Amino acid sequence: MAAILSSLLAGSVLLSGSVNAQNFGSNGPVEDAFSYVQPLNTTILTEYGSSPPVYPSPNITGVGGWEAALEKARAWVAQLTTEEKADMVTGQAGPCVGNIVAIPRLNFSGLCLQDGPLAIRVADFASVFAAGVSTGASWDKDLMYERGLAMGREFKAKGAHVALGPVAGPLGRSAYAGRNWEGFSSDPYLSGVAMEKTITGHQDAGVQACAKHWVGNEQEIQRNPVYDPNVTTVKTSNAISSNIDDRTMHELYMWPFANAVKAKAASFMCSYQRINGSYGCQNSASQNGLLKTELGFQGYVMSDWGATHTGVAAIEAGLDMNMPGGLGPYGLNFGVPSFFGGNITIAVNNGSLDTSRVDDMVIRIMTPYFWLNQDQNFPSIDPSSADLNTFSPRRTWTRNFTLTGERSRDVRSNHAELIRRHGAAGSVLLKNKNGTLPLKAPRNIAVFGNDAGEPTQSSVLNQNNYEFGTLFAGGGSGTGQFSYFVTPLQALQSRARQDGGLVHYWLNNTLIANSNVSTLLIPRGQPDVCIVMLKTWAEEADDRPHLSSDWDGDAVVESVASYCANTVVVTHSSGVNTLPWSDHPNVTAILAAHFPGEESGNSLVDLLYGDVNPSGHLPYTIAMNGTDYNAPPTTAINTTGFDDWQSWFDEKLEIDYRYFDAKNITVRYEFGFGLSYTTFNMSNLEVSPLANNITSFPENLPIQPGGNPALWESIYNASVSVSNTGSVAGAAVAQLYVGLPSSAPAGTPPRQLRGFEKLHLEPGETQTAAFELMRRDLSYWDIISQQWVIPEGEFTIYVGFSSRDLVVHDTVTVVG
Ligand code: BGC
Repeated sequence: MAAILSSLLAGSVLLSGSVNAQNFGSNGPVEDAFSYVQPLNTTILTEYGSSPPVYPSPNITGVGGWEAALEKARAWVAQLTTEEKADMVTGQAGPCVGNIVAIPRLNFSGLCLQDGPLAIRVADFASVFAAGVSTGASWDKDLMYERGLAMGREFKAKGAHVALGPVAGPLGRSAYAGRNWEGFSSDPYLSGVAMEKTITGHQDAGVQACAKHWVGNEQEIQRNPVYDPNVTTVKTSNAISSNIDDRTMHELYMWPFANAVKAKAASFMCSYQRINGSYGCQNSASQNGLLKTELGFQGYVMSDWGATHTGVAAIEAGLDMNMPGGLGPYGLNFGVPSFFGGNITIAVNNGSLDTSRVDDMVIRIMTPYFWLNQDQNFPSIDPSSADLNTFSPRRTWTRNFTLTGERSRDVRSNHAELIRRHGAAGSVLLKNKNGTLPLKAPRNIAVFGNDAGEPTQSSVLNQNNYEFGTLFAGGGSGTGQFSYFVTPLQALQSRARQDGGLVHYWLNNTLIANSNVSTLLIPRGQPDVCIVMLKTWAEEADDRPHLSSDWDGDAVVESVASYCANTVVVTHSSGVNTLPWSDHPNVTAILAAHFPGEESGNSLVDLLYGDVNPSGHLPYTIAMNGTDYNAPPTTAINTTGFDDWQSWFDEKLEIDYRYFDAKNITVRYEFGFGLSYTTFNMSNLEVSPLANNITSFPENLPIQPGGNPALWESIYNASVSVSNTGSVAGAAVAQLYVGLPSSAPAGTPPRQLRGFEKLHLEPGETQTAAFELMRRDLSYWDIISQQWVIPEGEFTIYVGFSSRDLVVHDTVTVVG
């Protein structure tokens, strides 16, 4: 809880605004919403370190399939009073994490917004799914959709209209960032596909998705401003500014969000930090320019909780909904007005805000509502959500919320089965010496490490880096409430019992690290297998202090491996761990099990015993040392100037494998790496154009959700044959990387992921992996023309089993 508390406290004091006219509309340095009006698309929309004004905020057109819903929304909004419109764009303390009040006279029962990216967090009898990082590690498009759909069904059954996820920001610029695990991968292509599949799944279930946090939200430290402890409305320093050049913005940080828009995400959440100097939720370049104009986003932008720092200026800059709205800090300071709310009525009445802009805000909110038929038989909010809501408990409510319907509905359905599969699919086998795995019914099993057993502090929420207890998820708003879970120890014990085996265990890391393990094991002698369970915590509002396993995990491994000849190490982790002992001869197997969700132990035992063949691949790179990574969070700000927190994304495109490849740096396990219990072969790469006379520049087509539709047209096909050459069934991931010609601008990474296909193969079976390369996949963002451009010259298309195991390649000339 501490994490949520500290993060929300930091954000929520911002909400203290005054209704008097002088204060309204500005609090600290903001862009002047009114003195600049610049035509869109005639200028570079993001500049490095400064954020140009882009106004006005584009109106929704309904293009891309929302036309009918838009008409309904327009007709509906036409019936509202100004006060009701203000209510529609302003959160209130209520039963959910975010609440829009009902308008009973129009049969509108309000909107319930709930976290988050791996579960409906504030709920009982709900499932906790595998985290984003596990989902990314599965490299499985069907799984991504299946998970999104199952999650969406749970949100809906609990009465939540909006799921506050999925996450593509942070993307994972820094291996240390505290929220990387909520998202899918530090590669924008993989993350983009996962965004698209998850959003489609959520929305097919009838729940609105919220792609967050837009954009450049790459670290937790100083994500919010700091306030004077005595005068909570006065900032003493601004939040960090993510200073991102235009090309990097497009090719890395915007990329997965473009997929989200293309998938028709109902909403976007603007981020806490500044983007090129201007706060994310009042940044006209990012909201009006990049999102609503260039990407053609038709939905609404909601603020992160407490990320609104101004009223009219934020509205003019493209913000459509203020969350959590009128709450004071944590709901403890009731009655503190919102920058929106009553101020909107005042601004409309005194002419400083045009009604048409407010109408567009509400229409953008109601169009996806009608599109998803949320006006028809939508389940009521489960009253238990209100009881569990510590963010805005009942005593903070100032508006009326009538809660009806069954309390504590069990919405878990049969999801445990798919969570068990997903947890396994998101685990990556990194080492398997002499086929030590799968285990062959070992009789004598020794388990070590504080990640193996029951959490002793709380079984409900992961909210701290407690010493004892396995980790299924990270902390903050992205976690879930467990209705039950299966620990590794429970699952290992029940499996060993089936096989007539025994399990002994030692859970105290300090004891293990400082003991001679042979004496711990006396008189039992050498076990058949020693399983070491390590954990690595990460949470919202904090970045990771190191990339090692927590609780002296590295020493635990060394201690066990110094005696135990068959040491299998399993990590439950938010992401990168540097694994310095990976070459130890007694460490026979390593499994990066990420954050698998509530069936963790079962997912693990399925893999260890070979009921499931590992098929996960790293969605990031494991470097030799933490210092090898190129883009640590910005922390070394020792000065006290108001604007001193600046994070210059000087590495540009060179994050994760793009950097290690560009600089030819040896890594421990490369991006895309993952072993199986079988072996695969790949051959017959064929690459062929789908059109003649492909031009460098895309045809200038009318913008659709996702941007210029020409960018999404497939222009090349590629295919390879993949065979299972081993003796057990398994799944291979064929990964396609593109090397752009040398004519591409300096700084272009040597290879970038542009396709992946997971194939399930029986022994001896061969299948074809087919890839469609879209125009965007073969282009770079040209900062001069403000277009995606296909460079002239020879492209190299590589396909392999990881970013450094490139089995086949071919060259093609796309244009000219
Ligand atoms: C987080 C969001 C979350 C919101 C509501 C914020 O602190 O950044 O991701 O959805 O809280 O809990």
